[in-house]
Parts: sequence; C-alpha cells; structure tokens
Amino acid sequence: MLIVVKKNYDEMTKEAARVISEIVREKPSCTLGLATGSTPLGVYKELIRMYKEEGLDFSKVTTFNLDEYIGLAPSHQQSYHYFMHDNLFKHINLDERFIHIPSSMVDVSDINRIHKYCDWYEEQTRKAGGMDLQLLGIGVNGHIGFNEPGSSLGARTRIKTLTQKTREDNARFFNNDIDQVPKYAITMGVGTILESRIVLLLASGKQKAEAIKMTAEGPITAMVPASIVQMHRKAILIVDEEAGSLLDMQYEQFVTDLE
Ligand code: F6R
Repeated sequence: MLIVVKKNYDEMTKEAARVISEIVREKPSCTLGLATGSTPLGVYKELIRMYKEEGLDFSKVTTFNLDEYIGLAPSHQQSYHYFMHDNLFKHINLDERFIHIPSSMVDVSDINRIHKYCDWYEEQTRKAGGMDLQLLGIGVNGHIGFNEPGSSLGARTRIKTLTQKTREDNARFFNNDIDQVPKYAITMGVGTILESRIVLLLASGKQKAEAIKMTAEGPITAMVPASIVQMHRKAILIVDEEAGSLLDMQYEQFVTDLE
C-alpha cells in the first residue's frame, strides 16, 4: 500500500487526477470505477481541465459508479446519476454508452429481481475487462461505498438498507427531512472493489483522520471496511495533512510511477 500525504485538498485531488490521467493515457480504453461525495469533486474538476486544456481523451473510457440510492429519479438533484453528469460526464467526451451507474429505479418489493440486477451490473464490469482503477472516498466510520461497518469484506454488489445514522447524516441534503432520504441503496461490495487492479482512496480534513489511521495502521476488520485495502496489492491512499495527522509512520510526499 502506498500512502501519500499532500499539503491540502487541492494538492491531494491534483495528484489523484494525475494518477487517473496516466492510466487513461496509457490505456485509452480503460475501465474506471467512480465515486460521488465531496472528496472526488476536485479530482473531477482537474480531469475536466485536463480534457479541455491538454486534450485528455475519454472517448474510449468505460466507467462504473460504486453506488446509487434507490427510489430517486436520475433527474433528482441528490441522485448519483445527477451528481456524476453535473460534475463530470457532461463536461468531458465520455461516450454515454460506456457510462454505468447502478439503477435507482429498481423495485424493492422484488428482491429476486434486484439480486439479478446486481449480478448483471457486476457482469458488465467483467465484460468491460474488469476495473483498472477504483476511486474511493471514505466515511468518518471507515465505510466505502455504502458498505458500512460490519459489512462482509467479501460482499458483492447488492442492495443495502441504509442505517438510521447514515440517513440522519444525509438528511442535510434532503431539506433536513429524514423522510425524504432514501431507505435503500445499491452498492458494489468490498469484494467487488478489491478486484479492481488499482484502488485509489482519498481523504481530506480532520474529520477523516481517525478513519485514515484505522484504515492504514489499524487491524483489518469488517468494522472498518476500508481497512481491507491493506490486503490489496496496488492500493494508493492519497490524503491531505489533516486527514493524515494521526498516522504514526512518515509517508512519501509524492507518488512514484505506478509500476
Ligand atoms: C460515494 C460513496 C461514499 C463516500 C463517503 C465519503 O459514492 O460511496 O462512500 O465516498 O461517504 O463522502 P465524502 O467524500 O462526501 O466525505
């Protein structure tokens, strides 16, 4: 596992975008796993800049998003469909046919159909040659995707019932009304995430320091789902100084070549 501590959020996201752009340049038909949330926003901004100013070409790139709420129309401003189009897809030359986000409109009363749908979503990642890189944020409790503490470390893409805590935390995005927060989501599992050839996990800010400490230097445990990245042969953690402030070890200030 490579741990890189950058001065601030801006430098962290620039370094992450550099890693991603290197893959896109070396393998134009690569497959990228993407995340939503506040952490990757700067990465997406930098990738858009690289597309506009440096001609970084996404036309052959395939993307798969990690997760999506169930029950929100793709046009809903809090849906991850909306987020991805608004913050990345509509600004670059990705081919719509190569964009994949779990469906938000599955029928929760038909669990067999949802299982089939989740298997189908994973099958698409395999058909696309598997993920070259999976971009991840991390929750303050160590969650990745919607894999909350206690999630099986071998789990595959599946439906998850959101915890009361997650729904309370997310109510701020839904007019502070918990009743508007979806109850379910589809998420890639930790096992699915680990199959990516590179796992790139980002964190910034003091509020993530404990989660990063547990992820990088704590025991591997389902109670901190992100800690499983210690087992991955090519995991890169890029954090800013605040998120890295509780780490005991001294880490590099730069990323060497991936190989
Ligand atoms: C987003 C996702 C979540 C976030 C995590 C951190 O697709 O799966 O696990 O990465 O909640 O969110 P932020 O970046 O908003 O702190």
